[in-house]
Amino acid sequence: AAVGETGAFGFAPIDPVAYTVDSFVVPEGFDWTPIIRWGDPLFADSPAFDALNQTPEAQARQFGYNVDYTDIIRTSATTAILFVNHEYTNENVMFPAEQLESDVERVRRVGLKAHGLSVVELTRTSETAPWTPVVGGALNRRFLDDTPYAFTGPAAGSELLRTVADPEGRTVLGTFGNCSGGTTPWGTILSGEENFDGYFRSSGLSEAEQRYGLADEETARGWENVDPRFDARTPGYENEPNRFGWIVEIDPTDPSSTPRKHTSLGRLKHEGANVIVAANGRVVAYTGDDERFDYLYKFVSRDTYVEGDRAHNMTLLENGDLFVARFSGDSPATEIDGSGTLPSDGGFGGSGEWLPLVVDGASAVDGMRVEEVLVHTRLAADRAGATKMDRPEDVQPHPTSGRVYVACTNNSDRGTEGKAGPDEVNPRTENRDGHIIEITEDGGDQTARTFGWTLLLVAGDPARNDSAYFSGFPVDEVSPISCPDNLAFDTAGNLWISTDGAPSTIGFNDGLFRVGLEGDQRGRVEQFLSVPREAETCGPVIHDDEWHVFVSVQHPGEDGSFEEQTSTFPDSMKQAPLSGAGGGTFAGPRPTVVQVMPVAA
Ligand code: FEO
Ligand code: CA
Ligand code: CA
Ligand code: CA
Repeated sequence: AAVGETGAFGFAPIDPVAYTVDSFVVPEGFDWTPIIRWGDPLFADSPAFDALNQTPEAQARQFGYNVDYTDIIRTSATTAILFVNHEYTNENVMFPAEQLESDVERVRRVGLKAHGLSVVELTRTSETAPWTPVVGGALNRRFLDDTPYAFTGPAAGSELLRTVADPEGRTVLGTFGNCSGGTTPWGTILSGEENFDGYFRSSGLSEAEQRYGLADEETARGWENVDPRFDARTPGYENEPNRFGWIVEIDPTDPSSTPRKHTSLGRLKHEGANVIVAANGRVVAYTGDDERFDYLYKFVSRDTYVEGDRAHNMTLLENGDLFVARFSGDSPATEIDGSGTLPSDGGFGGSGEWLPLVVDGASAVDGMRVEEVLVHTRLAADRAGATKMDRPEDVQPHPTSGRVYVACTNNSDRGTEGKAGPDEVNPRTENRDGHIIEITEDGGDQTARTFGWTLLLVAGDPARNDSAYFSGFPVDEVSPISCPDNLAFDTAGNLWISTDGAPSTIGFNDGLFRVGLEGDQRGRVEQFLSVPREAETCGPVIHDDEWHVFVSVQHPGEDGSFEEQTSTFPDSMKQAPLSGAGGGTFAGPRPTVVQVMPVAA
């Protein structure tokens, strides 16, 4: 179908864009517009963005930095709620060199407030007009470093979560390192606390601290110098890092609600979590631990979903069983040689099982109490014998088929000295470009303990990489793709993949790709857009019923500086709706949520 026609969402794939080019590229017939940028006002009293004179007080009232998970929940034909998280900060491009050098306290305190989450009301003048932010919207909210979160589940209140500031172990301030996420069937948002270890200085002495990368080293942002809880060597704060690494659930429709951290889903470097309701009514959440050689997890709720009972459904992630995946291959082991070439049985695939970590509220791991399993989940999964994966990022069940897609982004250490070698589900040595696993739960039962699996694609640029594989789709008819990260589906059932890392692997800017899953379209990869220089493509949000696609452009121009910019996205390319609300002399780069839509007829 042509642009603007009803039916299948049509576009001609764009050519990949060289990594040195600073532009935002969309298909013929489409255009793009910024919706909201770092520093834009959210409230009636928000100060105008002033890059040279940033303050923590101003940042706390403005849109934060580096957006990863993004959703736009339509509430009427012309109103919507935008949710985003603010994963981390790039101080080198946010602040002038002089301030980085001699105004360190300001840099640290603004950085703290640029993290967290945001909820922003959106409006539009018609169904074909772009969305714009409502400054002062009643639902607008910033979740900051001093926002209280309640722990739920079996580890809430355990001694492993207690600190001098929270002797009950039930309330923690803030969320950091939020990466991807998911929107639940009951309309709340899940966000994954990922690289939390980078915010804490710790003794680094215990097995658990070492397993989570916590070390006695100065942190990159130095927050341990402004708030003692970021230094877990401080007496009374030894457990503060245990209070991060969780799945967070927030209610975007109630700005006075207390967000929660669900201990039932375990503590790891959660990329995100995505929920599906199983046939028996239990809800199942899939979540990946994004670290080289870490694991894929599944949570199954104790209680069942009740259509229309939102208050009840909001409790479903508080109690349930937790499993970790073990994969087995079905091809001759001698043919898995690390080159990533297809085995003689024609594809990568096999069976697998979900190994229990917590069942019926009790530990299923010898020698560990349930709160130990949930707080030190990586140690529990090590003992259970889970399969070491190539950095599982987004894991998302298909809304109609129930098949589960796992983006393994890359693993440069696979098969190197002293590290696990290739296996059928991670078939490449020094896996540079990543791959996508497709899991089918046995019997079509999302709560099953066993599953089958296959590789949907083994990423790469087929023009230069013989082992790139696209489920048999002709390799000369696909867009090159590398480092799959966030996933989404359209209403026609296609998978959309955004990437993070392609500039340093296949030499192209990161982008957004549509992938067919069924019939003769299976494995067909078509590039829809390309983000500016040094940026990662986040979101994505696919409203194909309106021909609208949204992405968050994360860390554009990250290798430059405030003075020597390698990207001037977006202001040099397109004016944002709130650009009249300030911006001073700062030309960018600014992390931004972007809408892509057909060119007006
Ligand atoms: Fe924040 Fe796993 O990427
Ligand atoms: Ca990211
Ligand atoms: Ca990611
Ligand atoms: Ca990534």
